Amino acid sequence: MALKFPIFMDSQSTTPCDPRVVDAMLPYFTEKFGHPASRNHPYGWEAEAAVDRARGQVAQLIGARDPKEVVFTSGGTESINLALKGVAEMYREKGNHIVTTVIEQRAGLDVAKRLERQGFEVTYVPVQPDGMVDVDAIRNAITPKTVLISVMYANNEIGTIQDVAAIGALAKEKGVIFHTDATQAAGKMPIDVEKAGIDLLSCTAHLMYGPKGVGALYVRRKGPRVRIAPMMDGGGHERGMRSGTLPVPLVVGFGRAAEICREVMPEESRRLAALRDQLQDGILSRVDEAFLNGHPERRLPHNLNISFSYVEGESVLMGLNKEAAMSSGSACTSATLEPSYVIAAIGASTELAHSSIRFSLHRFTTDEEVEYVGRRTVEVIGRLRDMSPLYELAKEGVDIKSIHWKAE
Ligand SMILES: Cc1ncc(COP(=O)(O)O)c(C=O)c1O
Repeated sequence: MALKFPIFMDSQSTTPCDPRVVDAMLPYFTEKFGHPASRNHPYGWEAEAAVDRARGQVAQLIGARDPKEVVFTSGGTESINLALKGVAEMYREKGNHIVTTVIEQRAGLDVAKRLERQGFEVTYVPVQPDGMVDVDAIRNAITPKTVLISVMYANNEIGTIQDVAAIGALAKEKGVIFHTDATQAAGKMPIDVEKAGIDLLSCTAHLMYGPKGVGALYVRRKGPRVRIAPMMDGGGHERGMRSGTLPVPLVVGFGRAAEICREVMPEESRRLAALRDQLQDGILSRVDEAFLNGHPERRLPHNLNISFSYVEGESVLMGLNKEAAMSSGSACTSATLEPSYVIAAIGASTELAHSSIRFSLHRFTTDEEVEYVGRRTVEVIGRLRDMSPLYELAKEGVDIKSIHWKAE
């Protein structure tokens, strides 16, 4: 099949909607347009039934036993805000301390900073060079005032998957609520909120081949029953936790997307991991001074993040942008030229943090695309290094760090 350019390899920023998802959504824009809270007529009942079905489909994807535990939101960012702010407000009398990590997505970090300004204390636990959080570091951070642990399930840049079950068990032991940002993991790997002891879980549809603008927060109802203060006041929808008319077509699409992910997950993750490994081997075997970021095994099947010495990630992407779409750093920070804080947090130098590229594969990625992107990435890096005086010096055996640059 002829390649279609630019080849999309940035599926951790967003995924294309699966055509089956679009088909499921379409009737809910037109003939099935009822309001799910209209209790008095069939238009409302039809919409409510569709929302209930979607709630069940999302619940199944994450192992929630009771669909009522799924609260629909506008996406991952809102779910994270609702989880952190909702717990902080609800449990303020109990304590004012939160434990999180330095590699959370911006939503998690920015909410934590806001809560600090409001008098909360937040411990930001560091990560190891492979991106893993040391569960003992979380244990040591817990104080009698800790009301929440928030640790992401899998990282959006380096794909490292945390030992969520161990953190869940620790949270249970200490009687602390556990939230996980599973925005990148949901739909890509098996998740079981019961087995992993998760109390709150954030996810979004647009990272699992569903539409943009809808997500969910799982809120545990039993063992323990978790309560959160709502962020919005209004009609009391979503069991009082998230007022506002639900976007029924998006919710239906989210449900269908979750259902498809669950069905295809074993086969899809095997296929993508094999393609990802092929891309990784193709690049690492042909480019020297290239370093894999993240954990070599405990990582999302579709993620590959590599730093290339002596080139800027941005320059590589510019060199390829008519042919392939990838990202350097995460999408939300790529508007600035700040190096990736995640790559910096795993101990890389500023130079290597600037030179990282994230390739993320998806349901529609083909073998030919992987072969093409791998080959062209190697070529562009070769060309950029040929123009780099630093690379030339390094090849001559000069220790770059020992050079004292003299300003004219
Ligand atoms: C780890 C992580 N958390 C949260 C979000 C935000 O989700 P949304 O775009 O649905 O607001 C993203 C988005 O990419 C993400 O990767």
